Amino acid sequence: MAEQILILDFGSQYTQLIARRVRELNVYCEIHPFNNVPEINDDIKGIILSGSPCSVRDEGAPDLDLDSLRGRLPILGVCYGSQLLAHKYGGEVLPSTIREYGRANLDHIDLHHDLLKEMTHGSTVWMSHGDTIKKLPEGFKVIASTSSVEVAAFKIEGEKTYGIQFHPEVTHSTEGKNLLRNFVVSICGCAQDWTSDVFIDATIEDLKSKIGSDKVVMGLSGGVDSSVAATLIHRAIGDQLTCVFVDNGLLRKNEFEEVLESYKDMGLNVIGVDSKQRFYDALAGLTDPEAKRKAIGRVFIEVFDDEAHKIDGVKWLGQGTIYPDVIESVSVKGPSATIKSHHNVGGLPDFMKLSVVEPLNTLFKDEVREVGRALEIPETIIGRHPFPGPGLAIRILGDITAEKVKTLQEVDHIFIQGLKNHGLYDQVWQAGAILLPIQSVGVMGDERTYERVVALRAVGSVDGMTADWIHLPYEFLGKMSNEIINRVKGVNRVVYDISSKPPATIEWE
Ligand code: XMP
Repeated sequence: MAEQILILDFGSQYTQLIARRVRELNVYCEIHPFNNVPEINDDIKGIILSGSPCSVRDEGAPDLDLDSLRGRLPILGVCYGSQLLAHKYGGEVLPSTIREYGRANLDHIDLHHDLLKEMTHGSTVWMSHGDTIKKLPEGFKVIASTSSVEVAAFKIEGEKTYGIQFHPEVTHSTEGKNLLRNFVVSICGCAQDWTSDVFIDATIEDLKSKIGSDKVVMGLSGGVDSSVAATLIHRAIGDQLTCVFVDNGLLRKNEFEEVLESYKDMGLNVIGVDSKQRFYDALAGLTDPEAKRKAIGRVFIEVFDDEAHKIDGVKWLGQGTIYPDVIESVSVKGPSATIKSHHNVGGLPDFMKLSVVEPLNTLFKDEVREVGRALEIPETIIGRHPFPGPGLAIRILGDITAEKVKTLQEVDHIFIQGLKNHGLYDQVWQAGAILLPIQSVGVMGDERTYERVVALRAVGSVDGMTADWIHLPYEFLGKMSNEIINRVKGVNRVVYDISSKPPATIEWE
């Protein structure tokens, strides 16, 4: 990837948001930890220093060799990043008299300034800091203030180095995007030409030269990430790619057949493997959620290894890994804590010894969707809700049987179809049904029943890290309950999950 902005992460919860906002401006950027700065080459047009949960006054606070960067290319310090600039060059950073958290207004703002143009007097910004810059070093000039924070923004005279106390990446900073645009476009001179099409062309070229005439194998899940990754690899190397889609018996109703059909329409060379019984056998009698997950993971590896062995001369393993999975988490304790444990390569299945190719490992989820749409992957795949790898096994509380899977598939199908038919599917981030390990008394016709209870769950979320239950219309929920109880044998009660994450999780197991 050519032109880019480098974001140095000091551990703020907002760092990924900064990257999102820069990329929304069609400028490529990467996040790297403060203690592992990549080589500064000509492709890097500017640096953003993130916030941090630490204070610059803490012993062992995250630090950086700013001398080697200042003046070489534009720098924007955000919150901690700005305090670090002030602190290191002789300014004074002290605890705020009151912790500043929430909205504030830039009452004084130097609108002639290149960083602040196209913003307005009184602009609302989001503050979240425990320290305040009380005194700036010599040569640093205040360019914006709020009623309680004099140094809300500063510039170092004679160089393109800036600091801001507020968070432009948070949408509550209503003109934050203007400020970031001013920085990356006007000040850093980025061309705003990083689009899905550019990404696709560059990635296909890159895959072609990396893979050459080798063969690649890849496991598909029916989800967005693996489907988009496979399509990109397929565009690059065609039938040198073989995909494997495993029916683990824990998918949604008809999902295996439907997804397999879509993949064939997309021209992918996919081997569909029916391994239902193998998974059910491995799961028999297991009730502990982690034991179930482990069994599923183990059998998946066995099945995939068997299939990979059937393809002659495979050199690469394709994977749908996306950016949030690879961003190194910053350790405020220093580089040693980021060392990863090493696998015992000898003990791994053969396919795991293949070289890995991950064409999406620089993209966020919504960017993967955009790329998928640009590749004309059907909306039924691009727009689908996330679905966990262990599938319905973690939505059937207790042990798994084929009969329970069948029951839950029917319930889930009614609910998901209902959401689609009522135009609610796209308003929900993830939805599903859970089969509870209890029975309850009911009455049907003249007969007393003693049957299963199912829970319905629908949540809104951005990334699955936090989630709110969705206020689905009562009328819709009533309809779903009727339909499920009338049509699914063995279920006589439906409840709706109204818990948010945290403290609950999205899945029940
Ligand atoms: P929780 O239940 O932790 O789920 O709030 C957050 C998101 O992760 C999915 N999830 C999983 N995905 N393997 C997966 O591939 C798993 O074991 C797993 N557990 C949860 C869940 O569906 C939600 O999208």
